[in-house]
Amino acid sequence: MSKKHSENDKHKPHLLANSITKSFGAVQALKHMDFEVNKGEVMGLVGDNGAGKSTLLRILTGVEKPDSGEVSIDGNETKISSPQDAVNAGISVVYQSLALCENLSASENVFLGKEILYTYGANFYPNILKPLNKYLMEAETKRSLENLKVDSIKYLNQKINGLSGGQRQCLAIARAIHSNSDILLLDEPTSALGLSQTEQVLSLIKKLRTADRAIVIISHHLSHLYEVCDRITVMKAGQNVGVFSLHHTSEEEIIRAITIGEVVINK
Ligand SMILES: Nc1ncnc2c1ncn2[C@@H]1O[C@H](COP(=O)(O)OP(=O)(O)OP(=O)(O)O)[C@@H](O)[C@H]1O
Ligand SMILES: [Mg+2]
Repeated sequence: MSKKHSENDKHKPHLLANSITKSFGAVQALKHMDFEVNKGEVMGLVGDNGAGKSTLLRILTGVEKPDSGEVSIDGNETKISSPQDAVNAGISVVYQSLALCENLSASENVFLGKEILYTYGANFYPNILKPLNKYLMEAETKRSLENLKVDSIKYLNQKINGLSGGQRQCLAIARAIHSNSDILLLDEPTSALGLSQTEQVLSLIKKLRTADRAIVIISHHLSHLYEVCDRITVMKAGQNVGVFSLHHTSEEEIIRAITIGEVVINK
């Protein structure tokens, strides 16, 4: 392999979206949108309302199909045509509106869709007749929350309708990473949270940064992004108008890119 080739390989982003275009009728939500995030990196994604942030995220999670463009993981083109494709590709997501089930407990929410069943009578009873192994699910949920140092959710076996917004957000994040994904996408994880709950979620995100995980956070709160991100991608009207390293960029420059849309890719 030539030197040039191996250097190129080294710099392949973990997740790359290349020239993604998506229209809803007359609305062009994404126009040749490029996006990348590396392993070990926390990437912010910002832009005004309607800039196309959530649409990009829904394409990366297989909820929407792009009209054109490709997604690659570690340099390999990856078809994401359904949410299951995204899970198989190691991508998990916490949506803008939290999709937790009010009538289930914390541990049942973490295990929703991948419940642990009692194994006795394994050959005799079909799966739908086997009871849930709530003890094992609770023990696993407790262990994953402890690993994340989330200690504010005391009762894992009670319905979650008594949990605060911050606790719910932490639970939704714990659920997302429980599936062993190495790409975590968060759509406005701190919107609608009070100060201390926001701090709780930001400190959880800092703990999630590991060398083999790529994290993307959509937010309108630049100060929150400055607390946890390495770089920020700015979108305007469905396009990437700049990727900024936060060590070298002031909030004013980011705001200028959001509002005026100056194209300054890779500062
Ligand atoms: N399912 C849909 N049907 C029709 N139009 C849509 C649909 N989803 C998104 N859009 C349009 O696409 C554009 C981009 O929307 P999107 O939700 O991606 O923006 P956003 O950057 O996430 O905004 P916000 O910050 O308000 O969440 C908007 O004009 C929106 O109205
Ligand atoms: Mg959105």
